[in-house]
Amino acid sequence: MKISELSHHVPVSLGDRSYHVLIQPHILPQIGRVLQDVGLSGQVAIVTNSIVNELYGRVVLRSLKRCGFSPFLVVIPDGEKAKSMFWLSKILDELVAQRLERQEVVLALGGGVVGDVAGFAASVYLRGVPFVQVPTTLVAQVDSSVGGKTGVNHPIGKNLIGAFYQPRVVVVDPQALQSLPKREWVAGLAEVIKYGMIADPNFFEYLEQHVDGLRDQAEDVIPTVIRRCCEIKAEVVGGDERESGRRRILNYGHTVGHALETWGRYRTWIHGEAVGIGMVQEAAMAQFLGMCTKEIVERQRDLIQDVGLPIAMPSMTFMDLWGAMQHDKKVVKGQINCVVPTTIGKVQVVPLVRQRIRQWFTASQSSRGKRLEPVPQAVSRPCLSKKK
Ligand SMILES: NC(=O)c1ccc[n+]([C@@H]2O[C@H](COP(=O)([O-])OP(=O)(O)OC[C@H]3O[C@@H](n4cnc5c(N)ncnc54)[C@H](O)[C@@H]3O)[C@@H](O)[C@H]2O)c1
Ligand SMILES: [Zn+2]
Repeated sequence: MKISELSHHVPVSLGDRSYHVLIQPHILPQIGRVLQDVGLSGQVAIVTNSIVNELYGRVVLRSLKRCGFSPFLVVIPDGEKAKSMFWLSKILDELVAQRLERQEVVLALGGGVVGDVAGFAASVYLRGVPFVQVPTTLVAQVDSSVGGKTGVNHPIGKNLIGAFYQPRVVVVDPQALQSLPKREWVAGLAEVIKYGMIADPNFFEYLEQHVDGLRDQAEDVIPTVIRRCCEIKAEVVGGDERESGRRRILNYGHTVGHALETWGRYRTWIHGEAVGIGMVQEAAMAQFLGMCTKEIVERQRDLIQDVGLPIAMPSMTFMDLWGAMQHDKKVVKGQINCVVPTTIGKVQVVPLVRQRIRQWFTASQSSRGKRLEPVPQAVSRPCLSKKK
């Protein structure tokens, strides 16, 4: 029996670039069989980082060897800094040195950072070799491994260099999340809540009913959650692979979220935390624009807060926020395409000019303090010259 028949599998329909997301606890030791199932053979470059290699490198190597592959490891450093031209180049050097051939495989074993840079390497090496995603963080399992966005950062901005390049298969082992630091787990829940808000009110309700399971990483909740997120992402990507329309809804929470990440110089919040605050703010913006009710804003805010995410904006000026938004790819001719909710399960893309965002910002600042909101640990702007 094929592995794909044993696991939950979510199809991503993209014509001749279609593939499956396989979701199965304890599937990692069977990764060799999965690659055989999808018709791959020969050498496999396992791109991973030092932390994930320690945890899962050996099990993946062993499984691939057992199934007749010739795997080798390409280990990059931990952290966002590895998503750079420098480390892309190092990976390519290794593929050249090992004489990886056209039909052979690049496999990303790790979180979104590893997936993005390894996928980009696979897309440019010999003008494209087969690519396999084995995501090991919640963000990567529900988001970055599906959909084919790959790339690296430029010193000026995030994800400015990259390519759309779809994997041959995505192999999700929810069990691998058990070793994830709590903060990384909780941050990933922001993206999970995002799927409920943009596409599925029933899923949002399920999340509300399973707050404890979400916080505690309950084994009966996790695979269900991952599967539904992957289904939504697959459906959205299948209809708009290159983000010319509907795929933009996936950016909900990310206009303000990315601005906060930039403003905090990627140290104050990790990605999911910034997205959680971003969703709270973008829902408030929708209420300000008369596009959604206070009840919706509060329901979403409660869920975000209940799973353990920060919700409060830091003390920043409008110019801080506006300035940080300018490096965003969503800025077109001075307008920002912002995704705002109209109800639970539905969002709309609205182009907003500077003046409108300023009005919302001023109104939200003056209403701040009237509400009692918990303040996250790090809300002050980190100083550039301060050593970590
Ligand atoms: N391509 C896309 O569509 C897309 C979507 C969302 C995010 N992203 C990108 O993904 C990146 C963020 O990804 P991330 O949140 O996975 O961060 P990450 O890849 O940096 O991983 C977070 C941390 O968890 C560690 N880790 C990974 N798996 C682990 C495990 N199983 N056990 C213990 N530790 C583990 C990593 O070493 C790292 O320290 C960003 O660069 C973001 O831009 C891309
Ligand atoms: Zn995100």
